[in-house]
Amino acid sequence: MARRDPHSYYDDAQPRTASLELRVEADFDRRVLEGEATLTLAAPGSGPFDLDAKALEIASVRDAEGRAVPFELGATDPILGERLWLQLAPGTRAVTIAYRTSPDAAALQWLAPEQTRGGRHPFLFSQCQAIHARSMVPVQDTPFVRIPYVAEVTLPEPLSAVMSAGPGGTRPGPRPGTRTLRFEMPQPIPPYLLALAAGHLESRDLGPRTRVWAEPETVEAAAWEFAEVEDHVRTAEGLFGPYDWDRYDMLVLPPSFPYGGMENPRMTFLTPTLLAGDRSLVDVVAHELAHSWTGNLVTNANMEHFWLNEGFTVYAERRILEALHGPEAAARGWAIGQRALDDALARFADKPDHTKLRTELAGVDPDDVFSQIPYEKGARFVVLLERAVGRARFDAFLRAYMARFRFGALTTEEFLAFLEEQLPGVAAQVDARAWLYEPGIPANAPRFESAALQDLEARAAGFASGVRPSAEEIRSWSPTHLMVYLQKLPRPLDHDGLRWLDATFGLTRSTNYEILVEWLVIAAGSGYEPVFPRVREVLTSVGRMKYLRPLYTALAKNDATRELARAIFAEAAPGYHQLSRRVVQSVLA
Ligand code: BES
Ligand code: ZN
Repeated sequence: MARRDPHSYYDDAQPRTASLELRVEADFDRRVLEGEATLTLAAPGSGPFDLDAKALEIASVRDAEGRAVPFELGATDPILGERLWLQLAPGTRAVTIAYRTSPDAAALQWLAPEQTRGGRHPFLFSQCQAIHARSMVPVQDTPFVRIPYVAEVTLPEPLSAVMSAGPGGTRPGPRPGTRTLRFEMPQPIPPYLLALAAGHLESRDLGPRTRVWAEPETVEAAAWEFAEVEDHVRTAEGLFGPYDWDRYDMLVLPPSFPYGGMENPRMTFLTPTLLAGDRSLVDVVAHELAHSWTGNLVTNANMEHFWLNEGFTVYAERRILEALHGPEAAARGWAIGQRALDDALARFADKPDHTKLRTELAGVDPDDVFSQIPYEKGARFVVLLERAVGRARFDAFLRAYMARFRFGALTTEEFLAFLEEQLPGVAAQVDARAWLYEPGIPANAPRFESAALQDLEARAAGFASGVRPSAEEIRSWSPTHLMVYLQKLPRPLDHDGLRWLDATFGLTRSTNYEILVEWLVIAAGSGYEPVFPRVREVLTSVGRMKYLRPLYTALAKNDATRELARAIFAEAAPGYHQLSRRVVQSVLA
């Protein structure tokens, strides 16, 4: 027997799940999903069969013949949850588990109508990555075990639902006032890509393969913001090969969604903070789309190899950006990423193990060590490989990599072996060992030179000595130019400088959250009171962790604003996702 994933009770000596059939009803009053999950085994099995579960109530377990299957729920591990142990009779082909989720299920956020844009209907969404699928459905919750699935979800009449799957029709539900929606996901996916959202939803077609879903109040804005996504899909196919998932649809969630985006196959989940009104934040969509190849098709074996998902995807995202908007736009992406990388390195200054690409996570909650390291350090390592062999050979390598591991999962070590086989000697040439197994950033990190960027950065650096960009220059800036400029400003800044910035760029009223939050961090960290109301407004209406962490950190840094941070958190916490709440608690501790 071997446990191959430190975050799962999956045992590779036991039978494997071959497919999942889910039938659940969403009860918005009790905040539970209730129903049954049928797991069909890859081959008739017998003996112990361990599943992952977290806070599930198990009512019964039966086999395909309807016979009771003995089961036991183990003790709760705070990170893993419970082992759901089944004892299979010889020849067992499938098990059906009748169960109910907990109102506090880690994967689910149940929103009251006031927490939605429309304000009239409740909302539910899931976030299963990294290891929360087990709180929504009992499964072998590890990327080693990929499963196709079908699902039937029963909902109160006015609501509709989407899943990381294709639609399979709607029929009247078991009781008046309910409907049952069917979904089908024929391609095998790792359980962390199971996804469900339900609410008052509408959709708009963007192109032959792309569509956006949102609440009716935001769906037009979303359709405008993401109108170019069909082009993204075509561009990505040109780079990485055919798109394997049929459709690329998106869902814009309510503002408490804790991430920028989540690559749920066929249905990317997105934060509404991307609706900037200027299409400037679609790089997040490019990123989630790129996961269709790197992550969803070729998947990390477990969270210790997460860089294989995110490092390759950031690399792919910037290739898409370069193909669509040119090398200067990509260079700005790398510069903004460098800043995120530097922040993460500083955050882990006394925990250098968390700055390795290949990590060891037994006993570690992946949510606690989430950072930009696997993203930005990982992507830089990929660029280093690209530059070592040249783009043409590297593109051929990428195609071979995806062909070899498609619909599979791999470890860092398997990646290294494949690299050596395809591009002998390159790993040694770039010192892959240091990049993967040692903390920090090796000295041979790739540089992203751009004269325009250097100029912009010099201008920002001179701010304190009175250097100001001219009105004409400013007119030529895109939102990412402004972003780089803000990031490079010295801080804290004096209030005259801050007043000039706000008057010149309209920062406090910006609808671009990247720019707005960067500005609020500078201004709040400089004790600039005119922005405090806007800070409060952002923190009480948006739950995206990427924004909460720096804003609360800026407030917590100074005695004068620490109490303000606590007061805002007390007001905002009930509306936050549990992940977001935890991040803020750790910042304010
Ligand atoms: N897969 C991640 C989100 C994630 C990672 C959720 C780990 C849970 C655990 C997604 O693809 C992502 O990276 N989103 C980023 C945006 C991106 C442009 C870097 C985000 O949410 O900020
Ligand atoms: Zn990602």
